[in-house]
Amino acid sequence: MRHFLSLRDFSKEEILNLVSDAAKLKKEPKKLLQDKTLAMIFEKNSTRTRMAFELAITELGGKALFLNANDLQLSRGEPVKDTARVIGSMVDFVMMRVNKHETLLEFAKYSKAPVINALSELYHPTQILGDLLTIKEWDKMQKGIAKIAFVGDSNNMCNSWLIAAAILGYELSIAIPKDYKINAEIWEFAMKQALISGAKISLSHDKFEALKGKDVIITDTWVSMGEESEKERKIKDFEGFMIDEKAMSVANEAAILLHCLPAYRAYEVSEETFEKYADVIFEEARNRLYVVKALLCFLDKGRE
Ligand code: CP
Ligand code: NVA
Repeated sequence: MRHFLSLRDFSKEEILNLVSDAAKLKKEPKKLLQDKTLAMIFEKNSTRTRMAFELAITELGGKALFLNANDLQLSRGEPVKDTARVIGSMVDFVMMRVNKHETLLEFAKYSKAPVINALSELYHPTQILGDLLTIKEWDKMQKGIAKIAFVGDSNNMCNSWLIAAAILGYELSIAIPKDYKINAEIWEFAMKQALISGAKISLSHDKFEALKGKDVIITDTWVSMGEESEKERKIKDFEGFMIDEKAMSVANEAAILLHCLPAYRAYEVSEETFEKYADVIFEEARNRLYVVKALLCFLDKGRE
């Protein structure tokens, strides 16, 4: 049985197959998970991820149970491992959005059902699958290989893109503010993978350097969930990091902008630039539905 806690546990072939399967399911919906059940545990807010998972299992013929972590005995001190043994024994899949990645690791250790990371402070792997499907669709139109830039915080999206680019052999330039650091262990893992895959990964503190000659520009909020008390300081730290028309002008002419959403206009992205790329950004959001379908089917096969 496989869990889906981070892309680092998956090979290039497996990731690309998941994205291809998602594209097929987008074209031709199938009821492949008749009567299967998915528990959805949320410690943090969500719009897209909740919708994508609930609709995915429903359209595949199964059923979702939405569990707000605050309503569970977990919030009154029941151990994660006991919660995992109960929930994991009653359903076919569990997805969790957690404050601490360790909660996922502990849950997965004791769960009889595959556990999916629906966002932790370290990674957001199902979002990367959605981004990859969006790039695949765009790439087909452009007939090229995407060169990628990530501009923003050294957060869960940055970490996840770093891992994905390193495994897939992509060119990725990251720009984060001075004094911000990428998790050392994740960086080391990515560098080792890049040697195998041929990925070209670079890190700077200059958005123009990162964006120059790129095809896919990615940004994300400067203030992730759980960091609300740091908002004022972070907004100062990120001065000059907004993606606007001037920044996009150094990217390739046909470049697209991706944003996992929710987007904060006039902070990480200007209103004008966001609206210019809104079609691709909202397709990226919709693509979560199809990649989640493909992922659930993949994990189900792993149990046979
Ligand atoms: N991108 C994303 O995960 O959105 P939600 O927080 O709305 O689920
Ligand atoms: N980095 C953001 C992603 C939201 C989908 C956060 O963790 O809040």
